Amino acid sequence: MFSELKPLPTDPILGLMAAYKKDTNPNKIDLGVGVYKDEQGHTPVLKAVKKAEAFRLENETTKSYIGLAGNLDYCDKMEKLLLGNEHPALLANRIRTAQAPGGTGALRVAAEFIKRCNTDATVWVTTPTWANHISLFEAAGLTVKEYPYYDYENKGLLFDEMIEALKQVPKGDIVLLHACCHNPSGMDLNAEQWQIVAELAKDSGFTPLVDIAYQGFGSGLEEDAQGLRLLAATVDEMLICSSCSKNFGLYRERIGACSFIAKDAVVADVANSVLLSVVRSIYSMPPAHGADIVNTILGSEELTQEWHQELAEMRDRINGLRSLLKDSLNAKGTSQDFSFIERQNGMFSFLGIDKAQIDRLREEYSIYIVGSSRVNVAGVSKDNIAYFADAVATVLK
Ligand code: LMR
Repeated sequence: MFSELKPLPTDPILGLMAAYKKDTNPNKIDLGVGVYKDEQGHTPVLKAVKKAEAFRLENETTKSYIGLAGNLDYCDKMEKLLLGNEHPALLANRIRTAQAPGGTGALRVAAEFIKRCNTDATVWVTTPTWANHISLFEAAGLTVKEYPYYDYENKGLLFDEMIEALKQVPKGDIVLLHACCHNPSGMDLNAEQWQIVAELAKDSGFTPLVDIAYQGFGSGLEEDAQGLRLLAATVDEMLICSSCSKNFGLYRERIGACSFIAKDAVVADVANSVLLSVVRSIYSMPPAHGADIVNTILGSEELTQEWHQELAEMRDRINGLRSLLKDSLNAKGTSQDFSFIERQNGMFSFLGIDKAQIDRLREEYSIYIVGSSRVNVAGVSKDNIAYFADAVATVLK
């Protein structure tokens, strides 16, 4: 049976990560996978996380199973982190959450849940979107279609085209939106544009699914959730897939959440029974560690403050690097204007260079960039920026 299989290409992001690890060039630079790095190129464990882990080691009393939805205190705190303490959907008891193994696990649970709600649902994703979105929904048997989003030419948004396309999306279909720090372009909707999308969803009846994997990496925890909160205050039903990989630096612990908002508490309870049966049929119950850490941090004023500070440091460093990157590239006098890098949010921007140039960067300079020209800004540092800018200027000649 296995010998019938044909080999598949490596994942465009994770394959790059493996290739970078193998590269022995001391000047190598990893701008591939979306992982935060400090000035030394490390991805440290946050201090707040270390303290929560120490607390857990001392205070954990059992390794018995947790329930299908995972750690319920964690779920409760995630809902508040996403929506804010006083959101009308929370006060009306319309939201339900299942802890999930990372943002990807949350998306996969959401995909199976959507399939149970409407087998024929199409999931509409931005052009472009995170490479894994498409394969993930298709793997769950859903049709995936794209709607215009990023303007490659002007390095902005194709907002009018996006709205025109979304007007054609029928009731019962799902529209996936990135809450903030759009992956891969870094281009986000502003509050006014979120409002227009929310009104459209309400009028035409499609169901929004908001993927929020970078809360706190754009402008701040509250600011980055504004669009999501606005949608949640406007529509009757929506899904939210969240991740603690980036903002808590808990990448390998695989901790996220799949939430949905229903039109009332009764519908929410019924739908929740379906969501939990989806969980049961995939992995039965989520792992405990990551949720416990997040729950401990968010349950302590002191640790929450420390986490806020560490998150702000990561965000400020990325924003500083955006300016450094733009200035260093523009200073090389290349024909391209890189000022768009400063206008975008979060870890990613498209450099706007072609495949041959990306290959040259990797082969001649050991600089690793995803094939779409997405760069992880956090991979740049004061030490490697000159090498990077020189290399880009050379391949652009
Ligand atoms: C990324 O986009 O690089 C991250 O979300 C990591 C991944 O799993 O692809």
